[in-house]
Amino acid sequence: MFGVARSPRNVVFGAGQRFSVGKSAAALGSRLLVVTDARLEADQEFAKLMDVIRSTGVAFSVYAGVEPELPAASLVGGVSAGKVLGAEMVLGIGGGSCIDAAKAIALLLAHGDPLSSYYGEFKVPGPTLPVIAMPTTSGTGSEVTPVAVVADADRALKVGIASPHLIPHTAICDPELTYTCPPGLTAISGADALVHAIEAFTTARRAPDHGTVHEHVFIGKNEISDLNALAAIGYIGASLEQAYANPKDETARARMMFGSLLAGQAFGVAGTSVCHAAQYPIGVLTHTPHGLGVAAMLPYALAFNRPNAGPDIVRVGRALGVEVFEESEDATVESTIRHIEQLLERIGVPQSLEALGLAASDLDWVAEHAMLSTRLVKNNPRPIDQQSMRSLIGAAHAGDRHMLSTSSTHSQAV
Ligand SMILES: NC(=O)c1ccc[n+]([C@@H]2O[C@H](COP(=O)([O-])OP(=O)(O)OC[C@H]3O[C@@H](n4cnc5c(N)ncnc54)[C@H](O)[C@@H]3O)[C@@H](O)[C@H]2O)c1
Ligand SMILES: [Fe+2]
Repeated sequence: MFGVARSPRNVVFGAGQRFSVGKSAAALGSRLLVVTDARLEADQEFAKLMDVIRSTGVAFSVYAGVEPELPAASLVGGVSAGKVLGAEMVLGIGGGSCIDAAKAIALLLAHGDPLSSYYGEFKVPGPTLPVIAMPTTSGTGSEVTPVAVVADADRALKVGIASPHLIPHTAICDPELTYTCPPGLTAISGADALVHAIEAFTTARRAPDHGTVHEHVFIGKNEISDLNALAAIGYIGASLEQAYANPKDETARARMMFGSLLAGQAFGVAGTSVCHAAQYPIGVLTHTPHGLGVAAMLPYALAFNRPNAGPDIVRVGRALGVEVFEESEDATVESTIRHIEQLLERIGVPQSLEALGLAASDLDWVAEHAMLSTRLVKNNPRPIDQQSMRSLIGAAHAGDRHMLSTSSTHSQAV
């Protein structure tokens, strides 16, 4: 057995727990930079939280210039505000973009420019300023993961900074903060969380040695990530549609936030794979949000991976409550993929890349650029090369997963 957990020092979950932030901040220092966006800054709830922080005597500045999908340029004002304040710690509050911004700003305040020198894995030289992360979507899991994703105008694709040093010090997950998410955002961010959990659970398993944990930020499937991933799939599967259909369903909101937190714990160690690799170029061309692109890919990725990940897909099906045919793995895998397709359809996820807005003439470019995310591609349970990536993208574009070959490929990707 092999297992790895990497996690914030404190993870706090529960309705109303956002008000615990004051003492969490005071325990870390006396000057706090708060990173958020204009929407939340204008919200009364935000003002109440700032009152709580003020009451502890911690001095703070608010930087509310974060934009969705995190253009790198939107970090600059936050770094300046942090320097003027002499920030000792950073609070990121908002969707994944705000939390990723807080992580990147805490990195730049500790180690200086340029941001591009940290792109990739293990490029962060040491601890950043401590980050408190408070998500308002369910979600990216960024409150517990070792990665921040930014859109750099000099690069064609979004880029990741992946390092255990980026894991926030404290995650405070209060599902009440998600009650204002409209159905579209609930669907997009919830679908992202579902893909995190399923990709973490079906990702390749490495033969570990004593170097594994130091050589890879994303080390592949293991005993601890499996526990988190399966639990996440159960919570998200049981509540995504309800949270989408009824934004005021408090139980569904709590389960979604708990599921996305566990999904973050799972993929933050195990990693994600082809859905995420393909989304980066697809997002650039279609200008669609991250969660929609990864979810549109999911049924096709599972169909592609079924020769190598059949038993794991069966366990995904069990966690989702799909009927299991003991005598036939194939039938259960098929029912599981169908179940996921139908769930995604009901929450408004496009059923093909064509429906997502991708032009047929761009499929070669997408396949080529998806292969550039080597840290994700190497995690796929079925080895994938340029040609098979092109077949996968083609099938996902046509909306026909039966175009994919299901003949078994026994060698492991890593
Ligand atoms: N670091 C990670 O581990 C990780 C993982 C997956 C995705 N990401 C990144 O996270 C970003 C996506 O994050 P996201 O899906 O949370 O969306 P987001 O942060 O981009 O926010 C999208 C929009 O939703 C609004 N919003 C957020 N919370 C709201 C609420 N409670 N009520 C109403 N509106 C609200 C925001 O103001 C914004 O306009 C992408 O940049 C993606 O690349 C990071
Ligand atoms: Fe994601």
